[in-house]
Amino acid sequence: MKISVNYSEDYQSLLTEELHNKLEATHDFIQSKTGLGSDFLGWVNWPSSTQQAFLQDIKQTAEHIRSNSDVLVVIGIGGSYLGSKAVLESLATPFQKDSQLEVIFAGQLVSGAYLKQLITYLDSKEVTLNVISKSGTTTEPAIAFRFLRQYMEARYGEEAAARIIVTTDEEKGALLSLAKEKGYKRYVVPEDIGGRYSVFTAVGLLPIAAAGHNIDQLIAGAKQAEEEFQVMDVHSNAAIKYAVIRNHLYGKGYPVEIMATFDEKLKYVQEWWKQLFGESEGKEGKGIFPASVLYSTDLHSLGQYIQDGKRMLFETFLMVEQVSDDLTVFEAEDNRDELNYLSGLTLHDFNKACHEATASAHLDGGVPQITLTMEQLDEEHIGHLLYFYMMTCAYSAYLLDINPFDQPGVEDYKRNIFKILKKPGY
Ligand code: PA5
Repeated sequence: MKISVNYSEDYQSLLTEELHNKLEATHDFIQSKTGLGSDFLGWVNWPSSTQQAFLQDIKQTAEHIRSNSDVLVVIGIGGSYLGSKAVLESLATPFQKDSQLEVIFAGQLVSGAYLKQLITYLDSKEVTLNVISKSGTTTEPAIAFRFLRQYMEARYGEEAAARIIVTTDEEKGALLSLAKEKGYKRYVVPEDIGGRYSVFTAVGLLPIAAAGHNIDQLIAGAKQAEEEFQVMDVHSNAAIKYAVIRNHLYGKGYPVEIMATFDEKLKYVQEWWKQLFGESEGKEGKGIFPASVLYSTDLHSLGQYIQDGKRMLFETFLMVEQVSDDLTVFEAEDNRDELNYLSGLTLHDFNKACHEATASAHLDGGVPQITLTMEQLDEEHIGHLLYFYMMTCAYSAYLLDINPFDQPGVEDYKRNIFKILKKPGY
């Protein structure tokens, strides 16, 4: 299982001796857990060190939730939200309830209308809450939890505590003290894994398992990627290859990367990728701005800019080789829509042609291209893909001499909001 990385120009010519040396040092920083932010490199060997007993525990809790609930409300923001959302959306079947359990997210935005309507919706369902916050102090999910906890206690009385699961730090935070006091079931966000690298921990696994997906396969895919990317090879290591091309394009004056896909199921993988790369690389006046488009939809909105606007963009297509479901264009007797020339073509084939046409048009318009191809959308391949992105992200940030694992800039707005709202101590 491999992700293939193709570049519209000559990859070999990017590999100078200086770069090669830097990549070797970076590879060593990551694998030996030294270098900038090294105490947050727990994600590197997490897939291979995931214990069966831990997965079993998550699966049992998921089964219990499915046996007594119709809805799991997952409260979290950023890395405590986007990983599970990305996997759930990638595996969902549109217009169909895949599972007897519905997963709904809250706390990823602040909206009285959203929370009020959610609570009204929950009234006719059996409910479990999973509150996720590594710090245990993030305001947006804390606000959502205040309302939803009150709702659960009013509705379930003493039983509420058994319907609330907390995923947080092992030692600190307001959420941890509350969980201990109330006796909520707890999962730990490992100390050495930051939010945006946490999808393979309980942060991502519990909501994914509760929705009925195979977390063993997800971890197996990530584990395979972990093994693959342990090899320092600038050609076969796809994470290194992608990082090298991005870094080269950034140096050539392309500070914006657009992740393009033709599959709506990947929309939240794009959102997760934006957080991962934006929060990891965007520091010290440096970093590639991550943006995303969904084609064909955005060919009819942002396509004009990409083709013809300010030249600062490069485009990375995320393509899926095989689809699980498809349609073939049929021959119509009247051909009134003049589409008979397409008969026999699958819609997946149409998208492949559209990719070729778009890539070539954008290339002519001065937009360099990378194409990432994965085989199919299932748990194993998604696990592999997400680990691949995390590894590329670490290389990319280190190539810019940036710590990929902190997010000092996110704190600024938080301090301001505390000041504006007069939080004690600010
Ligand atoms: O990647 C990160 O660390 C952040 O984006 C966090 O995930 C986000 O700020 C939410 O933080 P917490 O899980 O502490 O509530």
